[in-house]
Amino acid sequence: MAFPQNFLWGGATAANQYEGGYKEGGRGLSTQDVRTAGSRTKKRTVTYTDTAGNLKEATRFEPMGKGSKGIIADGFYYPSHTAVDFYHRYKEDIALFAEMGFRCFRMSISWTRLFPLGTEEMPNAEGIRFYTDVFNELKKYSIEPLVTLNHFDLPLYLANEKCGWTDRKTIDCFVRYCETCFERFKGLVKYWKTFNEINCMLDWNKLGIVSDDPQELYQALHHVFVASALAVKAGHRIDPENKIGMMIAYGAVYPLDCHPDNYLNYLHSLQNIQWYCDVQCRGYYPAYKLKEFERNHIQIVMEEDDEKILREGTVDFIGFSYYFSSVTKAGMEVKMTGDQSQDVPNPYLTKNDWGWQIDPVGLRSVLIELYGRYQKPLWIVENGFGGIDTPEKQITDGKETLAIHDPYRIDYLKKHIAEMKKAVEIDGVDLIGYTPWGCIDLISAGTGEMRKRYGFIYVDRDDEGNGTLNRYRKDSFYWYQNVIRTNGEEL
Ligand code: BG6
Repeated sequence: MAFPQNFLWGGATAANQYEGGYKEGGRGLSTQDVRTAGSRTKKRTVTYTDTAGNLKEATRFEPMGKGSKGIIADGFYYPSHTAVDFYHRYKEDIALFAEMGFRCFRMSISWTRLFPLGTEEMPNAEGIRFYTDVFNELKKYSIEPLVTLNHFDLPLYLANEKCGWTDRKTIDCFVRYCETCFERFKGLVKYWKTFNEINCMLDWNKLGIVSDDPQELYQALHHVFVASALAVKAGHRIDPENKIGMMIAYGAVYPLDCHPDNYLNYLHSLQNIQWYCDVQCRGYYPAYKLKEFERNHIQIVMEEDDEKILREGTVDFIGFSYYFSSVTKAGMEVKMTGDQSQDVPNPYLTKNDWGWQIDPVGLRSVLIELYGRYQKPLWIVENGFGGIDTPEKQITDGKETLAIHDPYRIDYLKKHIAEMKKAVEIDGVDLIGYTPWGCIDLISAGTGEMRKRYGFIYVDRDDEGNGTLNRYRKDSFYWYQNVIRTNGEEL
């Protein structure tokens, strides 16, 4: 058997795209709650007021300017508010995951459900109760939770009133929140990740930053690195059983051809992604990044202990998302932005409807690359096919239901798992788990749509928020169930 017996098969979600209940149970607002819906051609925006009180919209990388405050405005649709309602339907969903045979379930905790403003000393009891119930429900089916402590959502109060991660005090707020999770959910959760896709955080939604000045962006990110390392240390102290990982968006990258300049650019593109792993796995900023800071007159302000904290707070494993690969050529920078359409097409690959180049072999290359470089256990915490499903009405046992035939999704996953298998069996990679993204249909992070579906479970909900929210098993549900049952032997 290629995969170890205890291999963690499962699926992945995130609170801001899945949970909903945005005003229930004492939850506070997060930066994701002021993000509108978009589409492949229309970018999502944040609604905010400027210092003069004018209502404005900004796309992800447009700086909002000092004094701006994210707000919920009339006449806009905000998909995170209800999302697909895990908040009220977690028992039904977890039962479906158990039916598929999940051994693990990746979810995130909504920071503002525990600390509505982010600054409180004590957590919101209703929030603690909700997650305790969820973890107990998972336990009932022997499903291990994998918890992301921060998946792109920052308390809106911290963003609006404290400039988010630009303010070093946000570190204390985050660490208090993490310590609370480690203490209150001790014995229920063992696998954690600090920040989702840390290489995709350079915007207001994640950092609460209103400027695009690299000095300010990197300083805020430095605070995130320190907060992550402190959280790792706290997690180990509170329960030595805890395994705490980092998380990065990591697609395969190729040079356009063997022209030496293209190859050199490819190496630099890799560094552009890998430096995040270097900091979190090795415990220090790599020399090439420090040189870049120096060239660009960026000075990271560090407190006396920061270097020590980074060294002591290295992670136990690397979690990464893998969806596509990219091609780079001299003069071009490859950025993992999560919603990129690949600028240089790869003639050997096909694309999904959102322009993402499908590349299963690239996944094997990435596994070899990451394991070779860091020698830490790896976990593919996101992978999957975002596509449009066409449900068909059918009558089963006299009841009307929906059938969803999704051979394209099965094909994508089958080919990626086959490559994972080779990486384990032939290349000796220590791969501990696989949690494909959006195991149940949820809101797209990049576009805010519902129509970009990844799930094994179909959710009746459309891009405008209409639908019953009822759940239906897709063909891929039964296919994945068999993959797990045979521990990846039958694909
Ligand atoms: C990753 C994120 O970037 O990719 C998820 O961690 C996201 O939150 C996923 O949903 C897929 O991207 P999208 O834009 O198709 O939802």
